[in-house]
Amino acid sequence: MQQATPPRRELGDQIAINAAHARHELASCLSRQIATLPPKYFYDTQGSKLFEAICELDEYYLTRTEARILSQNLAAIAQRAGADVALIDLGAGNCAKAFKLLARLRVRHYVPVDISTAFLSEAVKTLAQAYPDLEIHPVALDFSERFALPAAVQALPNKLFFYPGSSLGNFSPVQARLFLETLRAAGGDLLIGLDLVKPAAMLEAAYDDALGVTAAFNRNVLRQTNHLLGSDFDLASWRHKAVFNADHSRVEMHLQAATACHVSWPGGGRDFAAGETIHTENCYKFTCTGIEEMLHSAGFSDIACWSDPDDAYLVCHARAG
Ligand SMILES: C[S@@+](CC[C@H](N)C(=O)[O-])C[C@H]1O[C@@H](n2cnc3c(N)ncnc32)[C@H](O)[C@@H]1O
Repeated sequence: MQQATPPRRELGDQIAINAAHARHELASCLSRQIATLPPKYFYDTQGSKLFEAICELDEYYLTRTEARILSQNLAAIAQRAGADVALIDLGAGNCAKAFKLLARLRVRHYVPVDISTAFLSEAVKTLAQAYPDLEIHPVALDFSERFALPAAVQALPNKLFFYPGSSLGNFSPVQARLFLETLRAAGGDLLIGLDLVKPAAMLEAAYDDALGVTAAFNRNVLRQTNHLLGSDFDLASWRHKAVFNADHSRVEMHLQAATACHVSWPGGGRDFAAGETIHTENCYKFTCTGIEEMLHSAGFSDIACWSDPDDAYLVCHARAG
């Protein structure tokens, strides 16, 4: 199939966040009986930089474990992926993981997709210098709202969706399956990394590090909310909490009010009692069997999976059909 338009190397005027929709969504999430904030709002440029720092932390085993699994199994992954791959990197961030794949997979088109557009723009510039012959087509998109790839990307043959970092675990199980079904319907194979269930102490440390980087990352959602909604959260008055909820097999992140306070925004506001929380993120943890069932039930087939010696993490390649 031919592309409708040639790929671009720059994001140009693309935007991922609709300001009016964000204001409405943030006000309604904060007005719930138990206030929430969607985790996608962690990621302005500062949030993306904080996440980059999280990936370097001793406690955050996810990134280095996934990187090791990917590098040890690159030959098998490359063979399954074939030639002239269109690699669509969902939540590409600094593109560091794709950077390594691009050296070994026969990728013709690279499509980094992210909500954090300024940060992605910078990452793409660096990548383009390292891979001058690669067709790069960056996409600014909030894929939790609507998975709408540009027609030129949708038309590319041999699409491989790359969804690392256990980011699928930020969706509820129902949302995760629907998202996987959407990817399969878009006609792409899938290379995905998912974190496995393990003892609570190790999980909680990964989301509550000694240096307080994850705490700063969590509080950054209030900064981004102040920016988008016009609210007046005082970041210093909120404590970071990370707990493993075994019943739901998920690490939950919350922000807890240190003292009673009132938060205002244009057209609204809310009182928070001392100790009251805002639920900011869920990170679901999986089992190998559960992952294979989930991929099958979303319509994927011919699934190959690789783990590390401690069975801490799983990487799978699955075919759309
Ligand atoms: C946990 S980070 C993972 C980054 C990188 N893929 C990795 O594995 O290290 C999640 C990434 O997804 C992006 N992201 C989060 N929610 C998103 C959404 N709804 N639509 C598009 N990108 C999103 C963030 O900006 C961030 O770069």
